[in-house]
Amino acid sequence: MVHQPIALDDFQEQVHFIDDPASGTRGVIVIHSTALGPAAGGCRLWRYPSEGAIMADAVRLARGMTYKNALAGLPLGGGKAVLQCPSGDFDRRALFHALGDAVATLDGRYVTAEDVGTTVKDMLHVAERTRHVAGLSPRADGPGGDPSPWTALGVYDSMVATVKAELGADLKGLRVAVQGTGHVGAALCSLLAKAGAHLIVADADLARARSVADRFGGALADPALILETDADIVAPCALGGVLNDHSIPTIKAKLICGAANNQLAHAGCAESLAQHGIIYAPDFVVNAGGIINVCAEYLGETTMDVRRRIAEIPGRIVQILSRARDEGRTTHQVAEAMAQSVVAKAWTQAA
Ligand code: NAI
Repeated sequence: MVHQPIALDDFQEQVHFIDDPASGTRGVIVIHSTALGPAAGGCRLWRYPSEGAIMADAVRLARGMTYKNALAGLPLGGGKAVLQCPSGDFDRRALFHALGDAVATLDGRYVTAEDVGTTVKDMLHVAERTRHVAGLSPRADGPGGDPSPWTALGVYDSMVATVKAELGADLKGLRVAVQGTGHVGAALCSLLAKAGAHLIVADADLARARSVADRFGGALADPALILETDADIVAPCALGGVLNDHSIPTIKAKLICGAANNQLAHAGCAESLAQHGIIYAPDFVVNAGGIINVCAEYLGETTMDVRRRIAEIPGRIVQILSRARDEGRTTHQVAEAMAQSVVAKAWTQAA
């Protein structure tokens, strides 16, 4: 395939709608780019208010995957599956079989894995229908399984590097507010607690937040107020869009570094953060650990390859921070430009 160098922001290569009345599965797979390899990105299962909301989330998430995979140096393009979570009881196996069938029809152009609302077990159901799935049970001698601990490791290492570069400090004694204590948030809290950070945690699911606070010695916060907590660092680890025109002026932390995809509600929020003196570690750079693990599993690489690629993330963040300062641009702009140049190079080589 010859790829034309058109604006990545506006571009999806393919949109595949899923509508399987038998299992009640509705959703979409968006392939944003295959310039670097098969489009890879997890499957989100969530309650959306409308079909338009599903599509909008899928498009933004797929684009983010293109940038994330490119910057992480992976031979993968970007894509995403987003499914409407049926109300009431439903047959999960049938739902993920329907996803597997949809992935199979794309014949390797899209590779799925876990994201918010989906688990290793769900991906095992997908694997009953297609081989283009990762995040399965780990091999004895290799990567695989839940990608979240690897995502948390990349976020943690990025936070350490950012704190050192920008505050000349380490995490010991710093207050870190973690929004969302699910798979990644909980694993991140474990690493932060070991480093001697003071945790403040919140989750829409109070029991989940309480369990993490009990295990790692953190304080509980109201989910509605966690971003404006008196903290040194905020780590968004729930859903996207949380850094917006309303929330940014209330943030007291000096630094934002977390796992959630698409934290910025719109591109202008990066400038707004900078104007408020808040340093932002771009989400798609710091949260690449999970897809790095997924990629290694899919391509038959080793755990050493996963560790090597994750170990490169903090250096990349420091480079982005330094370029943003030198070039008078936001960290988000610098990171996007770096990712776009990787993809553009692949286009040029393919043409
Ligand atoms: P998860 O579903 O395990 O956890 C998300 C948590 O956020 C849940 O406990 C949920 O109750 C909570 N939550 C939702 N809305 C909230 C709100 N308004 N305030 C507080 N808590 C809220 O998801 P996971 O896997 O931990 O992912 C978290 C974020 O990181 C997502 O944005 C995901 O796309 C992103 N991400 C995850 C990766 C992974 O390896 N799991 C890889 C890269 C990004």
